Amino acid sequence: MNLTTDYLGLKLRNPLIVGASPFADNGSVAQQLQDAGAAAIVMRSLFEEQIDAEQRALTYHLETPAESNSEATSFFPAYDEYQLAPELYLKQIERLKKQLSIPVIASLNGCRPGGWTDYAVKFEGAGADAIELNLYQLVTDPDVPGDEVEADMLETVRSVTSSVRVPVSVKISAFHTAPANFAMLLQEAGAQGLVLFNRFYQPDFNIEDLEVEPQLKLSDSSELLMRLRWLAIISPNFRKSLSASGGVHSTEDLVKAILAGAHSVQLVSLLLRQGPRMITLLLEGLGEWMTTHGYDNLGEFRGAMNLQRCPDPAAHERANYQRILQSWKV
Ligand SMILES: Cc1cc2nc3c(=O)[nH]c(=O)nc-3n(C[C@H](O)[C@H](O)[C@H](O)COP(=O)(O)O)c2cc1C
Repeated sequence: MNLTTDYLGLKLRNPLIVGASPFADNGSVAQQLQDAGAAAIVMRSLFEEQIDAEQRALTYHLETPAESNSEATSFFPAYDEYQLAPELYLKQIERLKKQLSIPVIASLNGCRPGGWTDYAVKFEGAGADAIELNLYQLVTDPDVPGDEVEADMLETVRSVTSSVRVPVSVKISAFHTAPANFAMLLQEAGAQGLVLFNRFYQPDFNIEDLEVEPQLKLSDSSELLMRLRWLAIISPNFRKSLSASGGVHSTEDLVKAILAGAHSVQLVSLLLRQGPRMITLLLEGLGEWMTTHGYDNLGEFRGAMNLQRCPDPAAHERANYQRILQSWKV
């Protein structure tokens, strides 16, 4: 049974990747994940705001007289609240590279072109095997049109992909007007792969204190469905790698993501809840499913349910929406 896959030009022993999260902060935890079968690990993100804050802190110390007050820096975490300062981040890449045999993917998180993208070069210098560029953004300014936002994103991607030799994947949101077209533009901008999708953390309202409360809820399998649909739509035309991220909690979920066209599948919530052994269990389940269905390798069924190859393409499209709404009778 051959579970190997090509992701971003990296030969992985199987499709399971530990997604961007705190797991790679700790070398012995990363080791356990590798021992359980993880084929690669993505580090938590280094953020545009964090890098800018470091630059500002440096300028402040160099240029500001000791007695003046600094301005409060709004909503962002204070500089020392980030878990890995930029310098430590680079050291952590080096440490993981010495310790692990699987690829280490460093994550850079931001969306506007700027000096912060220079960190991609530093990641490469520290030994990262690939870079995952997360374009997480929430546009709240009513004067900013979508095409301007996407143009900025593409410029950011170009500035990263043109400055490094290691492959760059781009983690995007599902909420673009035309994700299939945006995927092709990212490919033209040099992305070697896409990670579908970012998960938005929805704040809740506290109706007693009238406060907006941030919260981090882990995912469940229902979140996979949106990923399956867009993997199925994007994969027939996208020539580079695709990774499913969000809502993979079982062997069945893993198989579905590959059927939709994924080359790799990222796990975070499942591992936070149930630990590294879930990687071993999912891989065993994948092997059993492949045996039952007569497959020897992943290429034989990758994309078999995508928009081009599935028996009922309309099920992925607007036609299905109409059919489903008509199915309710009262
Ligand atoms: C505690 C925690 C920390 C995370 N940190 C990052 C991060 O630094 N960068 C990033 O791109 N995604 C981050 N994520 C998002 C995950 O990489 C992943 O996209 C999301 O959890 C969906 O996958 P899942 O359903 O397997 O959890 C984080 C998720 C969790 C739960």
